[in-house]
Amino acid sequence: MLLRQVHFTAIAVVCIPTIFAVFVFLSYFHDGTLNVLPSHLSLRPNHNNLKPPAQIDASNSTSAPQVAESGNSHTNIENEEAPPVINTSAVDQKVFPQNDWLPARPIDPSCAYLPDLSKVLLIIKTGASETFDRLPTQFMTLTRCLPDFLVFSDMEESIMGYRVYDVLSDTIDEVKHDNGDFNLWRRQQECLVDQKSCQKWSNVGGEAWNLDKYKNVRLSDVSYTMRPNYDWYIHIDADTYIHWPNMIEMLKPFDPQKDHFFGSFEPSQYGDFNHGGSGYILSQSAMKKFQANSTVEHFDHAARSICCGDMLMTIAVRENIGLANTNLFPTINGRKPFTLPFGPRQWCQPIATLHKLNSEEIASIWQYEQKRFANATDGKPAPLLIKDLYYEYFAPRLVEKLEDWDNMYDDYLTNVWYYIDKNDKSKDWDNFHDQKYIWHMRKPEDFKHKEEKKAYKSFDNCKEACNVVDDCLQFRWQDDACAMSKNFRLGNPMEKKENNKERWMSGWAVQKIEKWIADQGECKVQFPGA
Ligand SMILES: *[C@@H]1O[C@H](CO)[C@@H](O)[C@H](O)[C@H]1NC(C)=O
Ligand SMILES: *[C@@H]1O[C@H](CO)[C@@H](O)[C@H](O)[C@H]1NC(C)=O
Ligand SMILES: *[C@@H]1O[C@H](CO)[C@@H](O)[C@H](O)[C@H]1NC(C)=O
Ligand SMILES: *[C@@H]1O[C@H](CO)[C@@H](O)[C@H](O)[C@H]1NC(C)=O
Repeated sequence: MLLRQVHFTAIAVVCIPTIFAVFVFLSYFHDGTLNVLPSHLSLRPNHNNLKPPAQIDASNSTSAPQVAESGNSHTNIENEEAPPVINTSAVDQKVFPQNDWLPARPIDPSCAYLPDLSKVLLIIKTGASETFDRLPTQFMTLTRCLPDFLVFSDMEESIMGYRVYDVLSDTIDEVKHDNGDFNLWRRQQECLVDQKSCQKWSNVGGEAWNLDKYKNVRLSDVSYTMRPNYDWYIHIDADTYIHWPNMIEMLKPFDPQKDHFFGSFEPSQYGDFNHGGSGYILSQSAMKKFQANSTVEHFDHAARSICCGDMLMTIAVRENIGLANTNLFPTINGRKPFTLPFGPRQWCQPIATLHKLNSEEIASIWQYEQKRFANATDGKPAPLLIKDLYYEYFAPRLVEKLEDWDNMYDDYLTNVWYYIDKNDKSKDWDNFHDQKYIWHMRKPEDFKHKEEKKAYKSFDNCKEACNVVDDCLQFRWQDDACAMSKNFRLGNPMEKKENNKERWMSGWAVQKIEKWIADQGECKVQFPGA
């Protein structure tokens, strides 16, 4: 009995202030963010009822980020420079624009280096299976200085005070009903605890992929309804990174009152489409027409029988408003620093987007940006070029050989060729695990050097052949197959195989790479469209 009373008192002492604190915390944000919502998109924050969020004066702020390069930092192996400190005095006069539906954020000195971001709307597409893995880092980096942005997902959520919309709540019932693609969508809503615990026995990756294609057309449509006044609507995935200075510079020569649909082309049976992960951008005029001529229900149906939402979006833009997409590759880019193939195709161009980055990589590239900003004498560093990524991410790690490593991963097929012994009947070449590259086999009748004949035999044979084949800058030997590429890239670690023959062995023609780089000389910076 007594014990019970003590318990009760303890609970009261702990709980009442906690509840009060939570209440105060919640009232700080506006209702749209934190209500458990009827997940309908028309439920937009009612701006009239909102007080502007508290502005925090930067001149009193003690939190100027020290964009330090810690000793064990993974972005910079060699340099142990003193940490650059951002000069905050330039920020004080700057009004940091805030949108009243976002949580209040302090005036942030790191934003002083960015161009005006008030004319672009960032639209992030994600899924509930990954939101907490990806968004918190994005909120600390990519969206940090944005006055406004929208996040669309397959479940209604509030993440650190930011509202995430369920863009599929409006998908027509006819399409959702009896459609296995929506099983995850239904299960996510039934989950009583965190999503990771609820979904851990299912193939969430595959299911999230199947659900994703229903989002693209709808989220563009609803974004314009919600935010009709921006010049540019930048659509990305939650694992895309944007280098803002180059993005804004890239858009400058174009008129948002004309129809534009920029992206990075990916081939398909329906023609080249704008790859979603690389990011695609619609102008004000294109968005307006797209929304005015909207046929979202038609595309809800169409999504069932197509692989991907970005492909469908390109088709929808073409069908609804007769607008063809424009390729701004490689400034709009679907690769990331560790796997981007450097070489003739990608070197001097400015880089505006990167893709497939995990949180660690996002944090790393953001920190590298801060270092460049702080280092620039007039506060404005030269445009970030693809070759700068080489110097930051690859050059400090460039060696002759790495064991249990795949430097071909994600290379472009047209830049890769293979040497195998087709007569080796012990191999099922038709079902070889690296099948896609076999199409680009170099045939004995085309060999120019005797070393090529033996290239498939071992890592050392492969290396000798690479040394004499002019356009070989890197190679990889594994399982009686020697692959070469005229690009150079770092690549990925691979699992160490028991059987020596099956181990992935990567090599680089370091001297040839260094000579190729020296031959390029200074870059003449040119933005696409400029
Ligand atoms: C810092 O804050 C105090 C009150 O919190 C205020 O009186 C003062 O003016 C601020 N300093 C500057 C430089 O704005
Ligand atoms: C910081 O920025 C201000 C304003 O741009 C400039 O006048 C000042 O010289 C800078 N200080 C340093 C230490 O770079
Ligand atoms: C789409 O809507 C706009 C109005 O915003 C109109 O001017 C245009 O002609 C419509 N049709 C097409 C095919 O773009
Ligand atoms: C900083 O500036 C110096 C001198 O211009 C340059 O050599 C160095 O590469 C720069 N570092 C970074 C990270 O941009």
